[in-house]
Amino acid sequence: MDADTQKAQAAAKAIEYVKEGMLLGLGTGSTAAHFVRQLGEKVANGFKVAGVPTSIATETLAKEVGVPLLNIDEVTTLDLVVDGADEADGALNLIKGGGAALLREKVIAHASKHMIVIADESKLVNTLGTFALPIEIIQFATSITIHEIKNCLKTCGVKGDEVAIRQKDGAPLITDNGNFILDCKCIEIPNPELLCFELNKIPGVVENGIFPNFKNAKRTLVLGTPNGAKVVE
Ligand code: A5P
Repeated sequence: MDADTQKAQAAAKAIEYVKEGMLLGLGTGSTAAHFVRQLGEKVANGFKVAGVPTSIATETLAKEVGVPLLNIDEVTTLDLVVDGADEADGALNLIKGGGAALLREKVIAHASKHMIVIADESKLVNTLGTFALPIEIIQFATSITIHEIKNCLKTCGVKGDEVAIRQKDGAPLITDNGNFILDCKCIEIPNPELLCFELNKIPGVVENGIFPNFKNAKRTLVLGTPNGAKVVE
């Protein structure tokens, strides 16, 4: 079974958690796109929900498939967000941001009572850090910000310290929020929660791609596998 089939399978399992009338966060990336398309099919059959997209790309897709959207400024809390991940560990801490949408994804996840993370089984790891950690930074004074990030990685016990500004079409990628993304080759992140907090103390950092599993909201991981969707809570 290929990764894309596993992603579609995980999305189908997540659809089972969606109840009529819910306000949903709609994640970003190829796995979340499966969910949005499957949700569009339900809506076409008369199912009533409303969504809030975590990126311009997801907004475009949701409109294409007919998922009704609310303006984010009308929303304070959401029932459920369904989103992908680049890595998840056994404690359901995540790395996200491979699709450059980590800031809006984190705002929406933080406001949601329940987060369902959908992924193919390759995303489950023992320790976060093989996937380069995305960090959204302002465009001003990138050398200072990168220098401070490298110091922070070191004091948080991270092995790797290679940091690069993400490129697209030969120029720095600009996020939906007008910022840059750094990719940090951490190799291993011994304490994801600590690193998340410490990185966000750096003034040029807007947000980072570690999503610690805070216990204030429920988190469920749904993995597509050759033996069917596996749910980890
Ligand atoms: C988007 O910024 C990311 O957080 C995605 O959710 C993550 O990169 C997973 O993407 P895929 O579902 O495409 O693997």
